[in-house]
Amino acid sequence: MTETTKRTTKVWAHRGASGYRPENTLEAFELAIRQGADGIELDVHTSADGELIVMHDENVDRVTDGTGLIKDMTLAQLKELKVSTPAEPSGIYHIPTLAEVLELMRTTDMMINIELKNSICFYPGMEEKILKLVKEMNMEDQLIYSSFNHYSLLQLKQLNDHVQTGILFSDGWVNPAMYAKNLGINAVHPAVYHLKYPQFIEEVKRAGLKMHVWTANKPEHIQLVKDAGAEAVITNYPDRAIEIIEK
Ligand code: G3P
Ligand code: MG
Repeated sequence: MTETTKRTTKVWAHRGASGYRPENTLEAFELAIRQGADGIELDVHTSADGELIVMHDENVDRVTDGTGLIKDMTLAQLKELKVSTPAEPSGIYHIPTLAEVLELMRTTDMMINIELKNSICFYPGMEEKILKLVKEMNMEDQLIYSSFNHYSLLQLKQLNDHVQTGILFSDGWVNPAMYAKNLGINAVHPAVYHLKYPQFIEEVKRAGLKMHVWTANKPEHIQLVKDAGAEAVITNYPDRAIEIIEK
């Protein structure tokens, strides 16, 4: 994987700098770059015509002026929608494709955490498509893949043994690190509250896995991630996290 800054805990922007710009938009990723983040996290789905779409939810209802499932809409239909936030209802933002985000990120040496959102809608063939695109763009060293769908992570590994993967998991799992290690997965991606259990941190260290923690936005949570010696903090506020990590 590429190294950016000397920070021992890297700062990855969750859905971009989504505390300041609408989540998963090019503008949120551009701001993460400007704020000096070490990486970004983004969510991916597949449209009706097979395009890789960067958005969090399975449907467009929460963050755009449209309604419906991504899997039922074409790229052209998705591109017509306006992304807006309560703070910026004018909707000057649009849904990006994965190719567009990668095009922006290839100008940097930042890490890119692609979260495959394929636990509710399954998007057959999405793994192959993502790997093909990343390879074509010559960005394989910048990528780590995560998902709540662990079969999908195994499929990525089967397609390319060199890919970096991280498991996402639900609340209250005991020793997910051992589980991940047994599957040949490289990292655990816990929600920040898992760090309240010293046993959990010990299990991750014992397994020799990397730990990338989400979503730490409050200063005390960012501090907790730093104190746990995690490799990355995933946050909506990269500037805030950088200040605390570098203190
Ligand atoms: O990848 C970390 C985090 O983004 C997982 O949850 O719902 O924010 O995609 P969510
Ligand atoms: Mg995510």
